[in-house]
Amino acid sequence: MSAAPPALAPDLVAGLRRLKLAAMRQLAPELLATAKTQRWAPEELLRTLIEAEITARDASNARTRAKAAAFPVVKTLDEFDRAASSINPATLDYLASLEWITAKENLCLVGPAGTGKSHLLVALGVAAVQAGHRVRYFTAAELVETLYRALADNSVGRVIDTLLRNDLIICDEVGFAPLDDTGAQLLFRFIAAAYERRALGIASHWPFESWGRFLPEHTTAVSLLDRLLHHANVVVTDGDSFRMKQARAGTGTAAHAKARR
Ligand SMILES: Nc1ncnc2c1ncn2[C@@H]1O[C@H](COP(=O)(O)OP(=O)(O)OP(=O)(O)O)[C@@H](O)[C@H]1O
Ligand SMILES: [Mg+2]
Repeated sequence: MSAAPPALAPDLVAGLRRLKLAAMRQLAPELLATAKTQRWAPEELLRTLIEAEITARDASNARTRAKAAAFPVVKTLDEFDRAASSINPATLDYLASLEWITAKENLCLVGPAGTGKSHLLVALGVAAVQAGHRVRYFTAAELVETLYRALADNSVGRVIDTLLRNDLIICDEVGFAPLDDTGAQLLFRFIAAAYERRALGIASHWPFESWGRFLPEHTTAVSLLDRLLHHANVVVTDGDSFRMKQARAGTGTAAHAKARR
């Protein structure tokens, strides 16, 4: 084992701490020693230190964004079985490119239970976080509840502005529970505010013509869908529930996964 490299001078430690260059501070003693023994050009040492700081900071920012996104589970695009999905590969490629997020387009996934809507929304959200985007996941119920709470202290506008700091806002499970008039108005207000400003990712098992079932007022439903569907990638998922398939085949449990190992 080689001896520990000499510690950094206290003034350098203090300076790096003050500038919040934690990765540099941590790596500097070893890199300085290596640079001396291997006769690095001074520029090389500076570059290595800067790259280390950038890498550490990118990773830390990605962790912060992943936490703020509040995904209910972590799903990835790699885990998404394209062959088992009814979505065509060209559409999946476009969605995976994340260009629609930069273009402030929406994604509306519609299809029956267990056909991969939430999986895809979360996986795209995770990919977006890794690519540097800010993302926030909600179920429709959580989103409306958040807006309802804001209504109580007169801060709906401020809460919506805060939500719109994200590049992608996901609203899953739209229509699972019916909305009352106020809830529908709040949802409309949010979608109208996001219109052409931010990308929305929406999933529902109700086809659009049935949205009147959970949106009490016809005009609200029409105006909401009008904004949502303009510049939207509408993707219909089809087929049997993945959950039911796994349940029938007995492949959905940890015991099964262990038995396969
Ligand atoms: N194409 C797929 N590849 C891999 N796993 C999938 C695929 N489609 C669905 N699954 C898995 O099946 C389960 C159910 O999928 P998911 O939760 O995305 O369904 P959903 O369409 O959101 O259903 P619901 O309308 O009930 O919310 C999840 O564990 C998900 O990871
Ligand atoms: Mg779902």
